[in-house]
Amino acid sequence: EYITEEDDDRQSFPTDDYTNITPAIISKIPLKLHLKPSHPLSTLRGLIESAYPDFTHANSFSPLVTPHKNFDELSFPADHPGRAVTDSYYVNRNMMLRTHTSAHEVEMFSKGESKWLLTADVYRRDEIDASHYPVFHQVEGARIFDANKSGMQEVEDDNARLSSVLSEANILIEDVPHISPTNPVQPEHDPVFSELVAKNLKLSLNHLMLRIFGGVAGASKQNPLRVRWIEAYFPFTSPSFEVEVFYQGKWLEILGSGVVRQATLDTSLVPGKIGWAFGLGLERIAMVLFSIPDIRLFWSTDERFLSQFEQGKINVFKPYSKYPSCFKDVSFWVPEHNPLHENDFCDLVRDTAGDLVEDVKQIDHFIHPKTKKLSLCYRINYRSMDRSLSNEEINHVQEQVVSRLKEQFQVEIR
Ligand code: PHE
Repeated sequence: EYITEEDDDRQSFPTDDYTNITPAIISKIPLKLHLKPSHPLSTLRGLIESAYPDFTHANSFSPLVTPHKNFDELSFPADHPGRAVTDSYYVNRNMMLRTHTSAHEVEMFSKGESKWLLTADVYRRDEIDASHYPVFHQVEGARIFDANKSGMQEVEDDNARLSSVLSEANILIEDVPHISPTNPVQPEHDPVFSELVAKNLKLSLNHLMLRIFGGVAGASKQNPLRVRWIEAYFPFTSPSFEVEVFYQGKWLEILGSGVVRQATLDTSLVPGKIGWAFGLGLERIAMVLFSIPDIRLFWSTDERFLSQFEQGKINVFKPYSKYPSCFKDVSFWVPEHNPLHENDFCDLVRDTAGDLVEDVKQIDHFIHPKTKKLSLCYRINYRSMDRSLSNEEINHVQEQVVSRLKEQFQVEIR
């Protein structure tokens, strides 16, 4: 049996062949960094909420959801790769950790909410490096209108208001058509309505980008904030778009968005509506806004990190020191009957070493010409963010990694 802790009540669940959540992951569930006063993620959440003052702001939904809610309700096909145990965390076949805040769209729309933001922790199995962490935070935003003349008048009024704000601002927008052959209107939709809603989505998000980045970029006519719209695909929106912002010399991926699939609204039992939704990751934005160099720092309990921030204030983080790193390699033969996914390896390392692991890279692989056996070599880079690590400590952690690798995956160490 697996136990998770939530708001001090413990819940137990039976395990099965899908179970892959680890104690390291379970320990993150109660932390709710997006609600921790003065934490950068909480400040960024507040900043986004302040751009939508007349929306409902939800931020305490449990991360435990059924796969039905995370995928099926959002029209994900049965064979979508996101469903794989290698990509998502499962408590068991019937319960998982949400991979995105879109998992709550139907729930919010069903409650009759027509303008809302929802901030929450989301979980994805991934590689380990300075910008990937298996837990991160997203803000979902959505707005629906009556799909009739008066609803569309509301959209047009809002579009006029937002256009006039944006026309005064130092912002340069690279747009794509609202609807195109590769980014089609849904058959259920009047194309005129869909265009108006897509335009409202874009204006609203351009305005949000200005709120987030306008203070630090786009401060002048010569140097406007650059926002780029790109066609995208999501199973639960059409047309769909991604937004990128040019910041510190790079295009940053900010969010996914689109016109909500009618199936989602049908499931929510809100007939006669049309609307948009977006989902935005907080960590990547907070890293550039606060100059936070490593995603693990968000989880730090070190006062030298936490004391640098104040709720509602965006300031530059001053690294207190970079402690030395130390790498260890491990090479092994993978048994044919028990293939090892890179994410399995990363979760094993993370569960053993916690946040002492800075990154994990595969540095070599080859197949033995005769036996056809697969050999892998991984390099694990260890570094603490708050202290110097002793050789003994790292050797000990590495020994544990190696022994768990042998036990759990029956590999043969080389
Ligand atoms: N849920 C999507 C993701 O995590 C983002 C998204 C949200 C896209 C809402 C469209 C609409 O990538």
